Amino acid sequence: GDLEKGDFEHYMLKEIFEQPNTIRDTYRGRIRKDQDEIVLGGLIDVFPKIVQANRIIILGCGTSWHAALVAEYLIEEYARVPVEVEYASEFRYRKPIINPGDVIIAVSQSGETADTLAALKMAKKQGAIILGICNVVGSSIARETDAGVYTHAGTEIGVASTKAFTAQVTVLTLFAFKLAKERGQIDAATLKMFINEMLEIPEKVENILLKHPHIKTVAAKYKDAVNALYLGRGYLFPVALEGALKLKEISYMHAEGYAAGEMKHGPIALVDDNLPVVVVSAKDDYYEKVVSNIQEVKARKGNIIAVVTEGDSGLRTMADDLFEVPESHPAVAALLTVVPLQLFAYYIALMRGCDVDQPRNLAKSVTVE
Ligand code: G6P
Repeated sequence: GDLEKGDFEHYMLKEIFEQPNTIRDTYRGRIRKDQDEIVLGGLIDVFPKIVQANRIIILGCGTSWHAALVAEYLIEEYARVPVEVEYASEFRYRKPIINPGDVIIAVSQSGETADTLAALKMAKKQGAIILGICNVVGSSIARETDAGVYTHAGTEIGVASTKAFTAQVTVLTLFAFKLAKERGQIDAATLKMFINEMLEIPEKVENILLKHPHIKTVAAKYKDAVNALYLGRGYLFPVALEGALKLKEISYMHAEGYAAGEMKHGPIALVDDNLPVVVVSAKDDYYEKVVSNIQEVKARKGNIIAVVTEGDSGLRTMADDLFEVPESHPAVAALLTVVPLQLFAYYIALMRGCDVDQPRNLAKSVTVE
């Protein structure tokens, strides 16, 4: 049954632990029984237009913008449609070029973020097809859009978004795979493979959550750091951004997420024996490059906390601490690798005596500019 706050010290922890269910609830009913088709009921009428789109623009703020970035990588790689991801606050004022027939997707947990709503209204006036991916049913963004898909994460109370993020990524992943199939970019067998990868996610998340005592132990080691750097590439670059955002939001430790390949263009200057560097990795095409990033950090005495695929013996010897996640296809690895980073941020904030559910200066939903 549903988890009660009473079982957990904070809503955020409860929401992190709900993710096996909320991810399942989000794809449930959208994957056909014989697991060979994705059905997005809310988009049925507009899907033929989406398939024809020359461009997709995805808008969001905060964590929702990170989910959008994952989608950019997925849609371009598999559906081969150009995608742009923008902060709603930038898009609405910079006089962007919007062509009729462009598809604009707003990603918003609350469906009430002022900048996202205003950006959508602006795009709608210019003839774009506007879609929403919202968690709150009947919210302003859900009502303003032409069509959309709800995330079924349930009410999220912790200000730092967790289960809403994985639900957004779940919907966007289904969307990307469906679009790829309908555009003839992937065949039926590949779609089925991806669907099976998705169906395995809840159990794999469950497996990660079981390791929370280890994550807590590692958090205790780094709780007094002043800065932290998070690195990732490909699908795991947005995860690095999201991991850093979680940490700074709730623990007030300064944290920066960076594309690992950009490390040499700045953040490497920060590396010394006081800097924890969280490296998000998977057994993907970037693996060797990430290994060399780790070597660069180790050569400067930085501490490496690596999120790795179970059984990755190479990184085991190089990293100071490891968060293992079950193996998956790289295209769905964001849904797994983000989970230990949510817990890591949670435990650090807890040990620093912070108000995890109500961090200072932040609001759950920013309904004013
Ligand atoms: C605030 C919240 C974040 C959230 C962002 C976007 O900053 O604290 O958790 O990611 O707004 O909110 P939305 O409801 O549009 O997803």
